[in-house]
Amino acid sequence: MAIDLPPILPYAFERLPRLIAPLALVYALRKSIEAFTPHVAAVIPGWLWAITYLFILPLQVALGAQYADWRDAREARRHGAVLVPSVKDNTPGGLGVLRSMNSSRKNGYLAEIAVQRSKELGNTFNINILWENRIFTSEPEYIKIILATEFDSFEKGPGFFHQMESLLGTGVFNSDGDMWKFHRSMTRPFFSKERISHFELFGRHADDAISQLRARLKQGYAVDAQDIASRFTLDSATEFLFGQNVHSLAAGLPYPYTAPESRDQAYTQHPANVFARAFAEAQLMAALRGRYGASWPLNEPWRLKTAPHMRIVRNFIDPIVTEAIAKRRATTQGASVGMKGDREVKEGETLLDHLVNYTDDERVLRDETLNIMIAGRDTTANTITFATYMLAEHPQAFKRLREEILTKVGPSRRPTLEDMREMKYLRAVINETLRLYPAVPFNIRTSRRALLLPGKDGKPPFYIPARTRVPYSVFIMHRRTDLWGPDAEEFDPDRFLDERLHKYLTPNPFIFLPFNAGPRICLGQQFAYHEASFFLIRLLQSFSKIELSPQAQPPQSKPPQAWQGAPGKKGKEKIWPKGHLTMYAEGGLWVTMEEAQDEQV
Ligand code: HEM
Ligand SMILES: *[C@@H]1O[C@H](CO)[C@@H](O)[C@H](O)[C@H]1NC(C)=O
Ligand SMILES: *[C@@H]1O[C@H](CO)[C@@H](O)[C@H](O)[C@H]1NC(C)=O
Repeated sequence: MAIDLPPILPYAFERLPRLIAPLALVYALRKSIEAFTPHVAAVIPGWLWAITYLFILPLQVALGAQYADWRDAREARRHGAVLVPSVKDNTPGGLGVLRSMNSSRKNGYLAEIAVQRSKELGNTFNINILWENRIFTSEPEYIKIILATEFDSFEKGPGFFHQMESLLGTGVFNSDGDMWKFHRSMTRPFFSKERISHFELFGRHADDAISQLRARLKQGYAVDAQDIASRFTLDSATEFLFGQNVHSLAAGLPYPYTAPESRDQAYTQHPANVFARAFAEAQLMAALRGRYGASWPLNEPWRLKTAPHMRIVRNFIDPIVTEAIAKRRATTQGASVGMKGDREVKEGETLLDHLVNYTDDERVLRDETLNIMIAGRDTTANTITFATYMLAEHPQAFKRLREEILTKVGPSRRPTLEDMREMKYLRAVINETLRLYPAVPFNIRTSRRALLLPGKDGKPPFYIPARTRVPYSVFIMHRRTDLWGPDAEEFDPDRFLDERLHKYLTPNPFIFLPFNAGPRICLGQQFAYHEASFFLIRLLQSFSKIELSPQAQPPQSKPPQAWQGAPGKKGKEKIWPKGHLTMYAEGGLWVTMEEAQDEQV
């Protein structure tokens, strides 16, 4: 990772020829006028040259953008297609659009600007920011083409790679082509079947989390369910990845902002909390770069905003990776690494134990384990959090789920894989949570070549130029009433079980993509269902009621007054859902719970 080079340097270096060329051209023009027609040169005033130097760069940018538009329009016509309709913005470089995205991040409901634009322009539209087109879509047919049928015509792309490199390196999440195939194929066997050891570690960490929950509730305080879910998934993930967990649960739970204990410095400085914060900040900093497209280095010219946080993350990971390589060398007496194809993963092995058979490149091992941690940790924690939120808001669903759990597993036993297979309602609750609050609400691909997206409703097809960023949102797609029916914004797990399933999802499976689709579909899908299920089962065995605690919710994290009465989910929201790489509840999800009495052993 080229961490220490100021980000502006490679950025400027790549663009230098394009910056210098027009200036050099003006210079050469002036010199040749002076040399060959001195009488003309004499009448051109100095200020005219000064203005020319000053404006030649913006002029070049403007003309370049005009030319690209003209060329794309011509190509579209040539193919009997049209360009995707553009968001109107008269400010230079789309600064107006950027500003409204900015302010929506601060004050708006997730994705609402994009939803508004979809109403005006259709479900696929073009946003031009800093002279770069982005074709945004929430159309299942197109997302299917991007992820599956035309998989080879799209990639994450160099833009995404550079944006994420200081966080993800070349891991499976951030690579394309052969590098991606290499990472995916060595990691896949680890997720190819359920392992008892995973259930065993979910069990231990879930029990730890729940006993801390109990103790805190007994003290009379509300708890942050999002924080607990994050600690549970962090300790679980670090254990199955590295065999050493960061013991974030052992750091204890945070207190509500109103409690004097919440200002305890020792707690903030606990190493596990420092790690968790650094990990979260690094992801946020990398994700926020997306707003500026390829120009993000201009916003952090001298030092990567991820750097201080990654240092803390690396301090944890690097020694473990080094040790794993040394251990493998010692036990195999230098037998070669470089395994190809699927390897039988032994029960109890960590991902790192498995990967050291494929490579002893420290960087590859670190990138890959960190990628899996990023892929699997927050996503699963978010799903547990939003499921808890929905269960608190929908007592009927809570009651039904709890009945299923008590019937199938009973009040105190740890669940097994077989138990989970039979728990239809639990799956439906998790699916419905993933529909309304998909852990990865937005994603992006880049076209590798020009292509056409078929026209809808008798309209001509859309022309997608080569090397164009194509962001897409399953968050928006999952809430479309034309795809899911008039009650699309209601939480109702039964839609995955009753006739609505056959009416909407079965004939059109690409309307539900919480885990993506195609060759890059989530590797940890089953793992995630099991982990989330395990936690929710333990939670509902232990507690017979969950209620939101508005008193404990930090005031600035509550949805703005102005949202009340808004149509759909926005008007009903009690917490503020936000998204960077993944979705989360701003300020946490503060709840109180009632301990189960009757059934508890
Ligand atoms: C509810 C939880 C989860 C959700 C909603 C989720 C969702 C996703 C999505 C949308 C992608 C596609 C990202 C992209 O290509 O841009 C993805 C990829 C991936 N996920 Fe998950 N995920 C979850 C949990 C997990 C877990 C627990 C693991 C592993 C422990 C995991 C491992 C991966 C990996 C390795 C990829 C990259 C696949 C590739 O690019 O080839 N995920 N996930
Ligand atoms: C967006 O907000 C950030 C701070 O939150 C600010 O630094 C940046 O200048 C804003 N950009 C625009 C275009 O308003
Ligand atoms: C939940 O969604 C997954 C993925 O689409 C599907 O395989 C499963 O059948 C669904 N289960 C239920 C009960 O809805």
